[in-house]
Amino acid sequence: MQDKKKKVVFSGVQPTGSLHLGNYLGAIKNFVGLQDDHDCLYCIVDLHAITVWQNPNDLKSNILDVASVYLAAGIDPKKSVIFVQSTVPHHAELAWILNCITRIGWLNRMTQFKEKAGKNRENVSSGLYTYPNLMAADILLYFSDLVPVGDDQKQHLELTRDIAQKFNNDYSNFGGTDFFPIPDPLILDESSRIMSLRDGTKKMSKSDPSVMSRIEFKDSNDQIIKKISKAKTDPLPIPSNINDLERRPEVNNLLLIFSSLSGSKLNDVLSDYSGKQFSQFKKDLSDLLIANIEPIREELTRLDNDQVFLREILEKGTDEAMKRSNINMKKIRDIVGLN
Ligand code: TYM
Repeated sequence: MQDKKKKVVFSGVQPTGSLHLGNYLGAIKNFVGLQDDHDCLYCIVDLHAITVWQNPNDLKSNILDVASVYLAAGIDPKKSVIFVQSTVPHHAELAWILNCITRIGWLNRMTQFKEKAGKNRENVSSGLYTYPNLMAADILLYFSDLVPVGDDQKQHLELTRDIAQKFNNDYSNFGGTDFFPIPDPLILDESSRIMSLRDGTKKMSKSDPSVMSRIEFKDSNDQIIKKISKAKTDPLPIPSNINDLERRPEVNNLLLIFSSLSGSKLNDVLSDYSGKQFSQFKKDLSDLLIANIEPIREELTRLDNDQVFLREILEKGTDEAMKRSNINMKKIRDIVGLN
């Protein structure tokens, strides 16, 4: 049940492949931490996934995989609403209305679209172009206050705020100037941008062809040790001063991962390891990763054999999300003049 006194938190993850350490530290770990004091909705955004063609069988199993990772990482269905975006049709309906609010000039500035479309701009789906409007719909549909995401989603969140503001202004005589709350992004400094283990200037990503570039939840302990031992570093020793990390993106990234997993400040990690060999640091980092990932991996294996339970959780989540979005969508339709 919705607790009206708590702030509403909304976030989502695309079911497009194996989730990795970037998704965990940048987003999912923070989802878990917010559950006690906030009213949280965590979505599996399958409609966003199909902005790029997905094999239907893979998509179906990836949806359940994200649900499993949510649960295994500690999202508690008794505290948070876990659901699949396409099972609540109001997301697509509100996205259409927001398509009519968002200016094309705003969408043209989206760097993620430019990166994803690349030189092939004329030939990508129009869904990829209007993707941020669907994301805004996800957030605004529940009158969300806070959105925990990694740094790569910051621009989409700024756009969501602009869309909410324009809707409020355009319909101020019908819904009031603060109909949609203006949502705040929640982006944690240390873990908002986990980089590839092979190239510290590139984001850790599901789409990187090299599995050595990322740690996945399904990695065995041996795979984790191997990926960390082969992670790129440089010939200099570990520095004692944060400023000396500036032109050392790979070393900076490994230290940030350590700091984020251990909950220690980067400065403290540096004072523990400055002047030491990377071999010792990498061993400790692997141990820390294993301590975090092994329990999640074991829970994933257990959930893999309990698909009935997973589907039950998702159905309950859909019911709750539908209940809320139905009420909100009625208000939105009324304000726009649609019923
Ligand atoms: P997606 O599926 O690409 O990523 C899920 C979350 O993981 C974060 N993330 C990272 N954080 C740190 N370092 C990385 N290397 C890294 N890679 C990914 C992302 O920032 C994200 O928080 N558009 C969104 C999904 C979405 C959404 C929403 C999010 C749809 N609707 C509404 C919030 C609210 C996306 O593609 O995330």
